[in-house]
Amino acid sequence: MNGGSISGRINVAIDGPAGAGKSTVARKVAEQLGYIYIDTGAMYRAVAYAAIGAGVSPDDSDRLGQLVHNIDIKLAPGAEGQTVWLNGVNVTGAIRTREVTLIVSQIASHEAVRLKLVEMQRLLAESKGIVMDGRDIGTHVLPHAEVKVFLNASVQVRALRRFQELKESELVPLAQLEQEIADRDRSDERREISPLICAADAVVIDSTELTITQVVALILDLCRTKTVEAK
Ligand code: DC
Repeated sequence: MNGGSISGRINVAIDGPAGAGKSTVARKVAEQLGYIYIDTGAMYRAVAYAAIGAGVSPDDSDRLGQLVHNIDIKLAPGAEGQTVWLNGVNVTGAIRTREVTLIVSQIASHEAVRLKLVEMQRLLAESKGIVMDGRDIGTHVLPHAEVKVFLNASVQVRALRRFQELKESELVPLAQLEQEIADRDRSDERREISPLICAADAVVIDSTELTITQVVALILDLCRTKTVEAK
C-alpha cells in the first residue's frame, strides 16, 4: 500500500459486469479505508430470493412491487464479506445459488424494485465513508461519488473466476457459465432503467491481467488523490 492517509470521508462507487471482481476489491478497499462496504447486488439477490420463496414470477411487476414494499433487507459486515438479512433471516449463502443468479437480472429490471433499493442505498451512503459496488452506482445511485471506478475483465476470465467459486453441488461446464455471464451482461446492459454503463467520469480498470492487490492499490491511489483535491 502506498503512503498517505485519507482524512475527509468520501464515497467510492465501483461498477462493472458480473465476475469482474467488484465485491472482493470493494471489500478490501473499504477495509483499508475503515469504510463500510455495501454490495448492492446482494440486495437485488435478496429480492430475487424473496420472490422465489413467495412464488412470485420474475416478470410479475405488480406482485414484485408489493413484495419490495414490505421487504426488510439489512447488510452487516461479516467475516467473509457481508452478512445479508432478509426479514430477520440470515440469507447470506442462500442468495448465491444458481437458482437466484439465473433470475436476478430480470428481477432487477423492474422499476418498483429499483426505486425501493436505490432509496435504501442512498440512505446508507448519506453520511459518507462508503464503498458501494453494483451496476448503476456511479451513474445513478451516487452520481456525486468522489471516486468512480468501472471494473471490467474479459468474459472468459470472469467465467473462470465464477467457475472456481462454484460449490461442487452446483458445478456446471465452464462454457455454459460463460454463456450465462454473457447473457446476464446483455440483460443488465440493455434494460431500460439504469442499465449497466460506464459513467462518463469513471476511471476504467480492466482487471483481466491484474491481481486483486493491484486493483485495490489503484483504487486506493484514486481515493488519496480525490481527498487531497477535496481539501
Ligand atoms: O453483482 P451481482 O452479480 O451479485 O448482482 C446481481 C444482479 O443484480 C446483476 O445481474 C445485476 C443486478 N444489479 C443491478 O441491476 N444493479 C446494481 N446496482 C447491482 C446489481
